[in-house]
Amino acid sequence: MNFYAIRGAITTSENSREEILRQTRRLLSEIKQRNHIEIEDIISIIFTATKDLDAVYPAVAARELGMTSIPLSCCQEMYVAGSLEKCIRVMIHIQLKEKRNLKPIYLDKAVSLRPDLAKVTIAIDGPAGAGKSTVAKLLAAKLGILYLDTGAMYRAMGLKVIENGGNPRESKEVLPLLPSTDIKVEYDKGEQRIYLDDREVTKVIRTQQISTAASDVGTIPAVRKKLVELQQLIAKENSLVMDGRDIGTYVMPQASLKIFLTASCEERARRRYEELKQKGMDTDFDTVLKDIIHRDNNDTNREYAPLRKADDAILIDTTNKNIDQVVNEIEGLLKV
Ligand code: DC
Repeated sequence: MNFYAIRGAITTSENSREEILRQTRRLLSEIKQRNHIEIEDIISIIFTATKDLDAVYPAVAARELGMTSIPLSCCQEMYVAGSLEKCIRVMIHIQLKEKRNLKPIYLDKAVSLRPDLAKVTIAIDGPAGAGKSTVAKLLAAKLGILYLDTGAMYRAMGLKVIENGGNPRESKEVLPLLPSTDIKVEYDKGEQRIYLDDREVTKVIRTQQISTAASDVGTIPAVRKKLVELQQLIAKENSLVMDGRDIGTYVMPQASLKIFLTASCEERARRRYEELKQKGMDTDFDTVLKDIIHRDNNDTNREYAPLRKADDAILIDTTNKNIDQVVNEIEGLLKV
């Protein structure tokens, strides 16, 4: 015999007998179905419920499902300040004749308990300098999932055009380069590295000139199609935080959570200016502000997949907030 323990969790919308039993039945059925388990395979089940659920023992649902002779027990989950509310957890012990790879099941808001297991996709859109990449990177690290900076892909494409002496605004100069352009994203200890035609360009794409070129090539539909395909491929395989301009509206319309980050034009220019200065780049505030306005204009007014808040995205204005406040706010939204 092979012995296993499977974990699972689910949340309820209210503390009522019907809702607790309905959700517990759902959780147990999903665990059984998705892991091809029969009632006879189960040795015992431990249920826990958060202190806000006291209308009924969740074990009653197991009995209703025919688990009449299985030892069951219900405990209260330890209370931790700020933890997920109205949550039922299970630990199921089972025995199987054969060896098997069993999957833990986290449903509804309980997916946030194990972002490493459940697929979580977070879309962060917004204009240049709103704080997207800093927030997305920190959030991804906190949740233990990937961060995909889609701007880096447009920057790599912008670099390709510049290096070939083309004008990034002119599709007739950009399109001939597209078929032979190979843009790849790899991760090294969680850090994104971007490759253009097998050459690492992670750092060289961070200049003012390439920012503008990226925004310009981003107005060309064929460029967007190529890069969006790559972004969707990465999202299919991974839990991630993806930031960009069209993520919630176009790249991941089914994202688990959509955020639209913004800040005033001047504040965004001030942040970009400080960032460039810190990197030792020679620039002045007015040039940065002008570039922010140019990019806002390109990104918002392009015909194809323009920068726009998705209807179901949550708007966060970061003008008077620090990074930690924004990250905590988004993390909180994942748990509601
Ligand atoms: O996020 P960033 O500053 O690195 O992006 C550079 C430019 O690339 C931005 O001005 C517009 C374009 N871009 C885009 O059109 N769509 C995305 N998903 C990401 C970036």
